[in-house]
Amino acid sequence: MRPFPSRRVSTIFSIPTPNDSEYLSGLGLSLPHSQSSRKEIICLKHSFAKKINECLWKRWLFGILPVISLTLTVVLLVTYYTLSPAFSFIYIGGSVEIPNLSYTSDLTHPKSHRFIAQAEAVQNYFAELYGSSALGTYYLKSVIAAFSEGKTGLRAYYWSTFWAPQDIVLTIKNVISVKQKQIISKRRPPKINGSAETFSFEEDFDIVTMELFVSDSMDYDVTLKSVAFDLYAKPGNNRTLTLMNPKKSFYQWRLRVPSDYVVRLVVVTAHGVSPGSCTSHRLSAYDFLLPLQNKIITRWCGMSGAWTSPFIRLTSSSNVMLVTFSLDRRKESHVLKAYFQAVPKIVCGGHYISWNGTVTSPYYPSYYPPSIDCHWIIRAPIPGYRLLFKLLVIQVQEQSLGSNKCDKDWLEIDGVRYCKPVSEGNRIKEYGYSVAISFHSDELVTHRGFYIEFRAFSHTDPCPRQFKCSDRTCVPLNSKCDGWKDCTDGSDEVDCGCNPVESNCGNGKCRHHSKMCRGDDSCDNDSQEADSCSYKSCPQRAYKCLNGKCPIKLNPECDGIRDCADGSDEMNCACGRSQVKKTRIVGGEDARSGKWPWQASLQLGTYGHICGASIISNRWLVSAAHCFLDSDSVRYSIASGWTAYMGIRIINKNNNNHIAMRSIKRIIVHPYYDQYISDYDIALLEMEAPVFFNELVQPICLPSSPRLFVYGTVCYVTGWGAVKENSQLAKTLQEAKVKIINQSTCNKLYDDLITSRMLCAGNLNGGIDACQGDSGGPLACLGKGNRWYLTGIVSWGEGCARRNRPGVYTKITAVYDWIHQYTN
Ligand code: ARG
Repeated sequence: MRPFPSRRVSTIFSIPTPNDSEYLSGLGLSLPHSQSSRKEIICLKHSFAKKINECLWKRWLFGILPVISLTLTVVLLVTYYTLSPAFSFIYIGGSVEIPNLSYTSDLTHPKSHRFIAQAEAVQNYFAELYGSSALGTYYLKSVIAAFSEGKTGLRAYYWSTFWAPQDIVLTIKNVISVKQKQIISKRRPPKINGSAETFSFEEDFDIVTMELFVSDSMDYDVTLKSVAFDLYAKPGNNRTLTLMNPKKSFYQWRLRVPSDYVVRLVVVTAHGVSPGSCTSHRLSAYDFLLPLQNKIITRWCGMSGAWTSPFIRLTSSSNVMLVTFSLDRRKESHVLKAYFQAVPKIVCGGHYISWNGTVTSPYYPSYYPPSIDCHWIIRAPIPGYRLLFKLLVIQVQEQSLGSNKCDKDWLEIDGVRYCKPVSEGNRIKEYGYSVAISFHSDELVTHRGFYIEFRAFSHTDPCPRQFKCSDRTCVPLNSKCDGWKDCTDGSDEVDCGCNPVESNCGNGKCRHHSKMCRGDDSCDNDSQEADSCSYKSCPQRAYKCLNGKCPIKLNPECDGIRDCADGSDEMNCACGRSQVKKTRIVGGEDARSGKWPWQASLQLGTYGHICGASIISNRWLVSAAHCFLDSDSVRYSIASGWTAYMGIRIINKNNNNHIAMRSIKRIIVHPYYDQYISDYDIALLEMEAPVFFNELVQPICLPSSPRLFVYGTVCYVTGWGAVKENSQLAKTLQEAKVKIINQSTCNKLYDDLITSRMLCAGNLNGGIDACQGDSGGPLACLGKGNRWYLTGIVSWGEGCARRNRPGVYTKITAVYDWIHQYTN
C-alpha cells in the first residue's frame, strides 16, 4: 500500500479581465492593484454546511475576509440563476500536483493502464471536490489530458467542464479570472488502495491549491479533435516532431523533460502555412500542456512559402511545452519538422566584476522563457573606471497598446526600461562604475531577448588591458605586432620596428616575409620563429604546409614559388581553371558550355537530378550532407543509387552520349553534420572509377585559407535548381553572380543561426540566389592565380532570393582539413 499525497498543490491562471475589479466593486469589494497582491484565496467547500467553520478560521488566518461575502454572493447568484433558462458550457483548464507520486514513462501515454487508473483517481477527486461545492450544480466532468513530472511529485493536466446559465458563466469566469488564484480546499489526499493501480480518496480534508484557467470552447475542442503525440526527452536526446502532408486538421505534441530541465523547441521547417489564414493555419507553442490562450509562448500564422532550416528556438519556463499545428487541408502540402531537447534550468543573473563581457537574456539566442525575472550587477574591476554598454540585440514583447511604459516584458539598465528596438545611434551608452540590469518576462509571448557587450574603460585609459587601435576600438594585447592585422585599420601592426615587406620575429627583430620559416637563422635562435612556423602556433587561418610548417607569406599556394620546404604549396595546382576563354539559380543566366567544368549533377535512379556537386579530384566529388538524408520513402543514403553526370550543360534524358557518368561508390557525410541546424553540411562522394579530365571536366581548387581571396572577390553559384521559389528545375546550367555577406550581418538576419561552418552569399535586396535543386553545388570564387576556388557548398536559405534572406553555404575553409584527410 502506497500512501497518497498529504498535500496537493496546483494554481489557477487566467487572463485578468477589466471586469474583475468592476464585478468585485459592484459587490462592495475591491482588488488590490499590485500583481502579487492580487492573489485571492477562495474556500471551495467540500461539505459546505458541515465544514464551514473549519474553513472560516483559515480565511481569517489568510486575512481575506472579503472572500466570504464573495462566496456568499456566488451562492446567492447560483440559487437565483438556477431558474434562468439559457445554459452554456464553461471550460476550466488547469493542473494539479500530487506529491509522493512519481511520474513514470507509462504515464506519458494516455492509453496505458497506469494512465487510465491514475486519471480516474484524479477525476473522482474533482467530482467530489466540485460536487460538494457551490459550483456542484453546474459541474459536469473533468478529463485528465496529460501527466508530467512535477516539482515534488506528479502533475496532472485537466479540463473541467461546467454547464451553467449564461450569467453564471460570466460570474464564474470573472471570479476565476483574477490572476493566479488559489483554491484551497480542506481535504485529505486520495489514497491508493491495494494494488498500485487502484486509487480512491478518503473522506477527510486537506489543503489543495490548483492552477486553473478559464478557456474557450475552441481550445477544448482542439484538444479533443487533435491527433496527439506524447513525447519525453531525456537530457542529451533530441526528439523529433515531424508531419509530412498530414491527413487531419489538428495536431498536438505534448513535450516533457525531467523536472529540473526546461524544454527547448527548435522548429526546422514549417511549410504550407499561407499568409492571411491565421484562423485555419497556425503553429502555436504553449508554456503548459493544455492549449490555453494565456499560456501562449508564440504563435505563427501567415507564413508564406516554405521555411527551411532552423528559424526558431523557443524555451519553456518549466519542464513541459505543448505545440499545436492546425491546418487547412484544402491547401497545398504541409510539412513541419522540429525537434526538442531538455536544457538544464538556469539560474539567471548574478554579480560580475570584469574588464569586459556579455550579458544576455536567458538561453539566448533561443527565445527566453515566459515568467522569468533576472537581476545582474556588473562592476568595473577598479574604481575610477566606468562601464561602456553596447546593446546589440533587443527583441522582447512590447508594451500594451496605449501604455507609455514597458509593462509586459522588459530589460532595465540603470533604472531605464527597454522593450522596443533601439536605434543604431542609441546602442552604445556609458554608465558609472557599477550598473544594475534586470530582465522581466510575463507569462505570455516571448522573443529572442537581448544581447549586451560591455567593457570597462576610463577616459585616461580607454582600452584597459587591451590594445587601442587608431580608430579607438580595442583588440587583445597580444594582437600587437603578431604579424596579422587585427585592428580594421591595421594599426596593431605599425611601429613594430619592421617595414611592410618584413615580418616581426617576435623578439624585436624583423625579417623579409619570404625568409620566414625557412629554417635559416635570420631571426635569432631565441626568437619565436620556430614556434610561429610550427603547425601548433600557426597564426589562425594561415596556410599550413603538409609538414605542418606555416610560411608567413600570404597565400603561398600555387604561385609558382616553392614556399614550403616540402613543396606542398605548389602541389595540387591543376585546378580551378575554366577552359572557356572569355563565356537555376534565381536571377541567374544560362552558363556557357565548359565555363564551370567542375559542376556535376547528382541523379538518383528515376528521380533524375536531385543535387549538385563539385569535382575536386579524379575520384572525389564534394556535395551537401543533406542531399543524402533518407526520407520516409526514398533511401538517399545508399551510394549505389546515385550517378554523377559531369561535363554537361543541359540535363537531357535522351542525349547522354558525350558526357562523363560515374556511379558513386561511397558517401562520407561529415561526422559533425547536424541536420537540424545544417551545421557541417558537407559530404564527400567517391566515384566508382576515376573520371578523365578534358575541356569540359576539370577539378576546382580547394582554398586552405580565406586569404586566398581579396576583398570584393567575384563569386558565382551554379546549378540546375529551381529558377524561383517553389518552381521547376532549370534545364540549362544556370550561373549567378553573388556577393559574400559579412558573417555578423548574416547572423543578425538569420537570428544567430549562422555557425562558423557557414557563410552567406547573395544579394540583400533579393532576386539572386540558389534554390531547391542547387544544393550540394559550388559557390566558386576567383582567387589567387586567377583560379576558381570552391568557397561554399549550397546548403540552405529561407525561401529563395528573398530580401534579407541570403543563401547559406557550407564554408569550405572550415572543413578543409577534413576534406584533405580523405582526398589526399
Ligand atoms: N536546400 C536546398 C536544396 O536542397 C538549397 C537551398 C538553397 N537555398 C537558398 N535560398 N540559397 O537544393
